[in-house]
Amino acid sequence: MYQTILTQIENGIATITINRPDKLNALNKKVIEELGAALDEVYSNSSIKAAIITGSGPKAFVAGADISEFTGLNGDGGKMLAQKGQDLVFNKIENSHKPIIAAVNGFALGGGCELAMACHFRLAAENARFGQPEVNLGLIPGYGGTQRLTQLVGKGKAMELMMTGAMISAAEALQSGLVNYVVPAADLITKTTSLLELIISKAPVAIKHVIALTNIAAVGDADGLQKEVAAFGELFDTADAKEGATAFLEKRQPVFKGI
Ligand code: COA
Repeated sequence: MYQTILTQIENGIATITINRPDKLNALNKKVIEELGAALDEVYSNSSIKAAIITGSGPKAFVAGADISEFTGLNGDGGKMLAQKGQDLVFNKIENSHKPIIAAVNGFALGGGCELAMACHFRLAAENARFGQPEVNLGLIPGYGGTQRLTQLVGKGKAMELMMTGAMISAAEALQSGLVNYVVPAADLITKTTSLLELIISKAPVAIKHVIALTNIAAVGDADGLQKEVAAFGELFDTADAKEGATAFLEKRQPVFKGI
């Protein structure tokens, strides 16, 4: 059904694989549109509890926006490119109420690094490389990179990476807080899946609030603590929170229903 991505659903986990390995999975218009559609399905299909985003082939997660589509763009075209990508894909990933994790299997450059950063967190294969090389093209990140890189690695490191355009290794990305784990390439999907299996065994409504409140904290919101109080209270009206406490007191595993 899709031309540039592969999708698969197994045990409630959707795997979305960007599939242009001959172009190092660069994000062209078609990939953005198809990723947008796949994310709409993650949002709306109740059999999907979580998603993994990864790249096809051994070399790249995503080596950036497709540079061949940059020629001939003027200011308005550039703005539209960034806005459309942010609306259709990047912000949709970040604001998803279901967890979406990046499994970074190689180059994550430019829009690829931004795609990984829009995910709720990231695992990297040992051969992964990260960078925001837009300055080499006289550009800057346009899919949220200036904001999310700063949130993840802090202002100084973000400035350095975006001003130099340099690539960093998976080990450096781990040290900077850009990724949560570095694993051998062969173990990347297994490790990502096992973390998601753990997460989706928890109450979905609680996970939804964790995502929303952590996103609020990351952008800095004076009302963040108050919003946490409101969400904490709301959870006490859910069947899952009642089940969680009851199961604990009855010394059994909870059975969460997502309500
Ligand atoms: N957009 C369009 N095509 C891209 C691309 C991108 N961002 N990144 C790689 N490709 C294409 C190459 O043009 C090449 O296509 P071709 O075989 O038809 O010539 C193919 O993918 C393989 O890439 P190649 O450069 O030959 O691989 P490499 O191993 O020598 O280098 C990189 C790998 C990632 C260092 C290099 O491809 C690169 O610098 N890519 C651009 C990264 C970038 O600037 N991204 C930010 C864009 S805003």
